[in-house]
Amino acid sequence: MAAVLETLEQSPFQTRLLTGQTGVEIKDIRLQDMSDENVEATRRLVGEYCVGVFPNQNLSPEDQLEFVSRFGKITKTPGVDMRSGVDFVHVVADRGDPDHPVSGGFHTDTCFVETPPSFSTLHAIEVPSHGGDTIFCNQYMAYDSLSDVMKSWLEGMRFKHVVSGTDRPEEVPDPVWHPAVRTHPVTLRKALYVTYADRCIEAEGLNPEEGKNLIDFLYKHSLRDHAMYRHRWNPGDFVMWDNRCSLHAAVYDHGDQPRILHRVMCQGEKPFE
Ligand code: SIN
Repeated sequence: MAAVLETLEQSPFQTRLLTGQTGVEIKDIRLQDMSDENVEATRRLVGEYCVGVFPNQNLSPEDQLEFVSRFGKITKTPGVDMRSGVDFVHVVADRGDPDHPVSGGFHTDTCFVETPPSFSTLHAIEVPSHGGDTIFCNQYMAYDSLSDVMKSWLEGMRFKHVVSGTDRPEEVPDPVWHPAVRTHPVTLRKALYVTYADRCIEAEGLNPEEGKNLIDFLYKHSLRDHAMYRHRWNPGDFVMWDNRCSLHAAVYDHGDQPRILHRVMCQGEKPFE
């Protein structure tokens, strides 16, 4: 347990871990006032615990862009309608279906480009009184809990990533191959890099059935309760996650209540093993 808490204890913030190993709350800091040193501490914290939660923020779309740009070049998902007047700010505005609550499905953002986003952020503008949570899971834990045989089998393995569901198909890039296991550039830990079957469609060197079964197994292996953090939204929450070591899913169980979040992402490096 001491090793789990090390990054937390070294941070300059008031923090608490939100589950066993996933999700950290960072309190009493105004994002607009962060020093460069604190930006680096945030990069380490979110890189280690996969998700950072900053309550009680009040960010304009421009403030959010400014803050996220300190972590990398601002980027957006090709082919997605941003629904906002501000370039690179995506208004996530989903209403649930009262009769059919569903999950958006666990995924890592925009994995189908050469340099997928490192961090994604959501700032809560209007939230349902109940429901509409976002769940995150920890892909370091998914990798660490594989057998040594499976780990060595995955060495050098690559998966093919493609777009699924898009507002503008003409903007969609060609499929890309990424390592099945990626090394996080800050923590240097290994994380399983899979996403849902519509987007992660092939394993290099395996026949289609073998590849599908392997990806399916690894995806299911990732989704375990003790590796998850479930975020219950409050207005003003700013949540930042590291796509290099986590999956996330929105839960659309909030009926017809409004749920409005502003989403900004920054570009990461080309995934490497
Ligand atoms: C997303 O999948 O990136 C959005 C998550 C959410 O709406 O909670």
